[in-house]
Amino acid sequence: MKSSETRFPHLLSPGRIGNLEIPNRIVMAPIGSANANADGSVSAANISYYKAIAAGGTGLIVVESTYPDNICSKGEDGELSAADNEKTTGLAVLAQVIHDHFGTKCAIQLCHIGQQLSLKDRMDSWGPSDMEINYGGVPQQFKGMSVDQIKQLEEDFATAAWRAKIAGFDAVEVHASGGHLHNLFLSPLFNKRTDEYGGSIENRSRIVIETVKAVQQRCGKNFPILVRVCGDEFEEGGLTMEDSAAMCRMLDDLGIAAIDMNAGSSSNGQLCPTMYYPRALHVPVAEGFKKLGVRTPIIIAGSINSPELAEKILAEGKADFIGLARPLLADPNWVNKLKAGNPEDIVPCIRCCMGCVGTMEEFNASRGLRCSVNPLCNLGLYRSVAPLKEKKRVGIIGGGPGGMEAARLAALRGHDVTLYEKRELGGAMIEANFDPTLKADIGLLIDYYKAQMNKLPINIIREEASADKILHENFDAVIVATGAHSRGTKVPGHDRSNVFTDIEVTGGKDADLGQRVVVVGGGVIAAEIAVSQAMKGKQVALTTRRGAKMGMLEIAADDSSPGWITIIRMLMQYKIDIHLCLTLKEITEKGITAADPDGNITAVEADSVVICGGFDPNNELYAELKDKVGELYLIGDAVKARLIGDAVHEGWIVANQL
Ligand SMILES: Cc1cc2nc3c(=O)[nH]c(=O)nc-3n(C[C@H](O)[C@H](O)[C@H](O)COP(=O)(O)OP(=O)(O)OC[C@H]3O[C@@H](n4cnc5c(N)ncnc54)[C@H](O)[C@@H]3O)c2cc1C
Ligand SMILES: Cc1cc2nc3c(=O)[nH]c(=O)nc-3n(C[C@H](O)[C@H](O)[C@H](O)COP(=O)(O)O)c2cc1C
Ligand code: SF4
Repeated sequence: MKSSETRFPHLLSPGRIGNLEIPNRIVMAPIGSANANADGSVSAANISYYKAIAAGGTGLIVVESTYPDNICSKGEDGELSAADNEKTTGLAVLAQVIHDHFGTKCAIQLCHIGQQLSLKDRMDSWGPSDMEINYGGVPQQFKGMSVDQIKQLEEDFATAAWRAKIAGFDAVEVHASGGHLHNLFLSPLFNKRTDEYGGSIENRSRIVIETVKAVQQRCGKNFPILVRVCGDEFEEGGLTMEDSAAMCRMLDDLGIAAIDMNAGSSSNGQLCPTMYYPRALHVPVAEGFKKLGVRTPIIIAGSINSPELAEKILAEGKADFIGLARPLLADPNWVNKLKAGNPEDIVPCIRCCMGCVGTMEEFNASRGLRCSVNPLCNLGLYRSVAPLKEKKRVGIIGGGPGGMEAARLAALRGHDVTLYEKRELGGAMIEANFDPTLKADIGLLIDYYKAQMNKLPINIIREEASADKILHENFDAVIVATGAHSRGTKVPGHDRSNVFTDIEVTGGKDADLGQRVVVVGGGVIAAEIAVSQAMKGKQVALTTRRGAKMGMLEIAADDSSPGWITIIRMLMQYKIDIHLCLTLKEITEKGITAADPDGNITAVEADSVVICGGFDPNNELYAELKDKVGELYLIGDAVKARLIGDAVHEGWIVANQL
């Protein structure tokens, strides 16, 4: 027996969903890829994306949100369609490509979006009741559905499910979560109806129950149906765990195959929780469902980004299958690496949402699905690891994510690699990992890269590299990945002992800050430091130049939307004293003074001042080496301070073309 089979016996054991035998307990939770053709038909990019996930050993793949009718169920440009018979041919190729990996099963998620906000050619937004709500400052009107429209929608789901069955899918999933139409009916926050579709949980569930029955009638009772369930909206007055479990007991009686559970709402960021939330945060809801008598197998998803955690959940009987969405973007070979006994090779999802959600969420201008830590994600049609043409001696300066990714790939391709790092390996990720509550997941990536640096034949030199040393080595190629440094400030008082930069605080100096802290800056790092200090019981103020147009909503606007929603809520929850539209003028022993746009001066008192004034690249070494080395590359923050994803992708690109 392989070591992984003994370490991960539950994860790697087969399981049943309806009449389907699933080879292991890993289910790909649906991830909209925006890859479909304009008419919703399956594209080559769709096929390539799922081929990679199936090849990686995933037991069951739930293909992304797919619209069932041409009335107004479509939610996003690039969404898949099952709304016409002509779509079945493309869907059949998709199902076939997944089945080409023997044993892997596939379902397809059918979804009526409800709200149309992100669509270029918007149609009506349907909901249970007439309503206007606000999405991040944008008003959105819902039209309450008539009973005839509800019946039509149920029929359309049934016909779309039938098309999926004809196409060769093993199952369908009805989407009743994610803040979409069925979820809106379930939520008392949106459902204000007084007829048989509103009021009690029996009535609010009716549309879900009737949709399932319609699918069963059309596809036969043996055709497995999964329902994506919001276990708890975690909103005051929203759908509760008790009500959601009550609906699931009704679904038990209908004999559905599985509950694919997530939780949260679009306004609390928990549907796609970033690293500010604890890992596996929805597991207690799955456990709660079991205690409340729900009998159908539960697939639990949400921030389960390590195999040890996943195994523990199954071993403790808290759920029956593990749903992975983002972790399979970070590493589609998740299961295969586990089976091979190499869990340390799994590239961890760091729950940054900067690649997957961040690249998708520009309204009408999505750059498509990407992943910060996986340069191949959704680019499999165009990118692959290039075979080695000529073995080179490669020198890499900087052991941050950029340098380590370059070293990893260059060594894997067969180059002779030397990596210089003057501190410990990790780069600015060490500072980014500063708060174990808010930013722990960055530590997973540090661990992953350290393991790879140890396993691969890379010569690691733990000292500062100078131009002389590098030139002396006569490398064929040199990659400079030296990162960036805090810009700080030059205002009067900047050199006082009560002034700290963001890097100093996140690098471990926060014990010196005292009880009252003022953070100067409006970006995400400033917001994180403010929240982190407040969580430690400090009295925290934040001053920023931002805020002229959208007020406090401009803070941390460089975060992904789920991260931004969460950190804004935390700034309020921890009662950070926020001062907008202020420019720092002076730092004194009592705190700071700052000016508003009219020149009026405000004083904010504090024991210490943390300056989050941005970063400047460390590119001097590159300048010294320029024109003296055959092949010379500059990557990551040393080009311009940005994010882990930029450094990883540039490291990969450069290492792949050496
Ligand atoms: C507090 C903080 C929080 C952050 N949070 C996030 C986040 O949540 N998500 C995100 O995506 N990004 C975040 N970032 C940004 C992210 O950490 C950087 O974009 C990323 O680390 C840049 O990678 P890099 O490899 O280009 O450089 P770095 O990670 O900076 O690595 C450069 C390395 O080069 C070494 N070095 C420099 N000169 C030499 C030399 N001459 N010889 C030997 N070694 C040398 C340095 O010691 C360093 O280890 C954060 C940054 C900070 C400071
Ligand atoms: C880019 C992206 C697209 C998503 N698309 C869907 C979708 O089409 N249907 C759905 O039910 N959930 C969707 N989700 C939510 C995921 O299925 C999952 O519940 C969530 O990401 C939490 O799980 P994870 O931590 O494993 O990523 C999406 C998430 C992301 C990041
Ligand atoms: S972009 Fe970030 S959150 Fe999204 S899958 Fe990749 S690592 Fe995870």
